[in-house]
Amino acid sequence: MTALPSAVAAPTAPQVLDRCRALVRPALVKSVERLHPWMGEMAAYSFGWCEVGGAPVAAPGGKGVRQALAVLGAEAAGAPGRAGVAAAVAVELVHTFSLLHDDIMDGDSTRRRRPTVWKAYGTGPAVLAGDALFALAVETLAETPGGAGGVRLLSSALGDLVHGQADDLLFAARPWTGPERVRLHEYRAMAEGKTGALLGCAAALGAVLGGAPPPTVTALDRAGRHLGIAFQLVDDVLGIWGDPAVTGKPVHGDLRERKKTFPVLAALSSPGPGARHLATVLESDAEPAVAAELIEDAGGRTAALDEARRHTAAVETALAAVPLEAGPANDLRSLLDFLVRRDL
Ligand code: IPE
Ligand code: MG
Ligand code: MG
Repeated sequence: MTALPSAVAAPTAPQVLDRCRALVRPALVKSVERLHPWMGEMAAYSFGWCEVGGAPVAAPGGKGVRQALAVLGAEAAGAPGRAGVAAAVAVELVHTFSLLHDDIMDGDSTRRRRPTVWKAYGTGPAVLAGDALFALAVETLAETPGGAGGVRLLSSALGDLVHGQADDLLFAARPWTGPERVRLHEYRAMAEGKTGALLGCAAALGAVLGGAPPPTVTALDRAGRHLGIAFQLVDDVLGIWGDPAVTGKPVHGDLRERKKTFPVLAALSSPGPGARHLATVLESDAEPAVAAELIEDAGGRTAALDEARRHTAAVETALAAVPLEAGPANDLRSLLDFLVRRDL
């Protein structure tokens, strides 16, 4: 039987990411070139464009999810992708800024298998490079026609990100059990702020620059926020059970760091003796592998994946609530699928 003549196959998520990256890259490079050369080198190093010292290299940078969301946000609103480029540049700069500072807060020495900026260049310079990226992001948007509303959106997302980061930092000192324990709703709010706010802002900013009406902007913001929570939940599962060869992170890393991740919190709040046993193990010096097994037995892994599915469904509901261009809306869906399916 011959294959039916089909319409052009829908692009895969990596193809969508590549297309958006190629569209945004020249503007991002131009923007980074405006920085003080030392700051520019740290930015280029973070993007995976050069080594320490500035020698050009193609190191694996990030996936570029936020820039893709911004481009697709503009396209979903019926504008050409280039209308979303300034938004894409701004959110990538802010994302990189937040990572530079986050690695200092977390004391992490590697990111994407390379030394973190503060490890490679020093803490002071890394703080300053983050500040420089932030300023550049605001400048980029402010000088874009129609970008004033965008600046408002970006600063409000940043406020939420700081809230989420603050809670994340405070969670570390909270006990596993008792009245001061971290509740699941607090976790959700933290994840929405820390990860969801900027993802939502990316899609919404693209839509604003693409001339979308307010309900579309709000729907894309909501979709991005749910995507962020789902992404964070999957990250939590990978942080405990992920294959280090794939994640690039140490096995049971989140347990060793005693992070209050969703699978642990869900397991601790499960009914039955498993939760109590887990609490005792978490408070002891037992090997993280023991805790990982107890978390799984108490349903923590399943609960996290179920919760991720609920947020994925909420993304779909948000996207379906407003009229969007079919092609870009489907690209958004395939991106979502790709992000939450990572090697589970
Ligand atoms: C980073 O959060 C979130 C921000 C930069 C706001 P995490 O600390 O949980 O993420 P990774 O593991 O360092 O990327
Ligand atoms: Mg971190
Ligand atoms: Mg952190």
